[in-house]
Amino acid sequence: MLRRDLWPRWTPLGADARLDAEDWGTEIMRVTVYSAKPYDREFLDRGTAQGLDIRYCEAHLSCETVALATGAKAVCAFVNDDLSRPVLERLAGLGVQLIALRCAGFNNVDLAAAEDLGLTVARVPAYSPYAVAEHTMAIILSLNRKIHRAYNRVREGNFALDGLMGFDLHGKTVGVFGTGKIGAIFAKIAAGFGCHLLGHDPVENPDCTALGMRYVDREELFRASDILSFNCPLTPETHHVIRKETLPLLKPGLMLINTSRGAVIDAHAVIAGLKDGTIGSLGLDVYEEEADLFFEDLSNTVIRDDIFARLLTFPNVLITGHQAFFTREALGNIADTTIGNITRFRDTGEALHTVSVAHVAGKG
Ligand code: NAI
Repeated sequence: MLRRDLWPRWTPLGADARLDAEDWGTEIMRVTVYSAKPYDREFLDRGTAQGLDIRYCEAHLSCETVALATGAKAVCAFVNDDLSRPVLERLAGLGVQLIALRCAGFNNVDLAAAEDLGLTVARVPAYSPYAVAEHTMAIILSLNRKIHRAYNRVREGNFALDGLMGFDLHGKTVGVFGTGKIGAIFAKIAAGFGCHLLGHDPVENPDCTALGMRYVDREELFRASDILSFNCPLTPETHHVIRKETLPLLKPGLMLINTSRGAVIDAHAVIAGLKDGTIGSLGLDVYEEEADLFFEDLSNTVIRDDIFARLLTFPNVLITGHQAFFTREALGNIADTTIGNITRFRDTGEALHTVSVAHVAGKG
């Protein structure tokens, strides 16, 4: 339904967008985007041409900031926004009907509460497996050849090579824990470097077996891998796969890489492994307690997380702040799917990619 009567209040919408919406006879719908960064705006602004009145706020969604969604029918949220029952209750009270997550994970949403309140929850199930797989290899190459250290040395006029020695990737065994979309592309990249491939996944991926990957159990993967990359989701089965008890199973000097979810490894145990040399090097894009750290500029504050601070002291540890997804293509796909979720909901009452309690239980 076209709501001409409400246009004057929706000033941020461009004239062109209004005309488009009028041409198509679609309802103009207000969306409040929380935790909005400049790069989110750059891509989500595409939604104005489809009749969305998008209001951006830098603040995270919480009980304190929920009023910013006044007048909105949808809120667009990210990984560190609070979508617990009290927040959802307030959103529903304001007339919000759709929670459009601009990410794949939904662990920060109380799905049962959303269901009770009649709120639809939608997400972006996939955006660019290439982005994450390529970043995984970028971490491996940087960590192995100490590019991050070499860069700083050269800028300071220090051209000594001591401490920068790496190893040939060619001929090494790469273990891929989780051979879905990202794991398979990463395996293909590793195959291009001449690595032997081992995989571990309850479901064998024919794309990986075609590359010569051999599927093995966890123990063999741990024992035989020179480089072990986690590319699986976080589930009860994958929580703390690397922990104190599993450290002795790893090949001594292993390069451990995690670009999946932080809690797949127990950082406390990994620190012990780094100290005694069980783990030769560590590359992370994710961290179990990242919600308090990542995506913000904390350079003028004291990091209170002692485990994270300890990890930063090792010369053989390289950490990026959950940026593996961060490519132009991925952000474009995230914006397109998010806008698709919202406009489909506006037009039909159903989003494209909903998540619900039944979905999590494997029934949806
Ligand atoms: P996917 O669903 O295509 O593949 C996941 C694979 O893991 C599947 O083949 C599945 O069978 C396997 N798996 C599930 N449970 C397992 C277990 N217990 N042991 C071994 N394998 C298991 O997902 P996709 O797109 O490849 O993403 C993988 C993960 O990457 C995501 O779940 C997410 O945690 C992470 N990710 C990280 C990003 C980043 O920016 N760092 C961005 C996007 C995803």
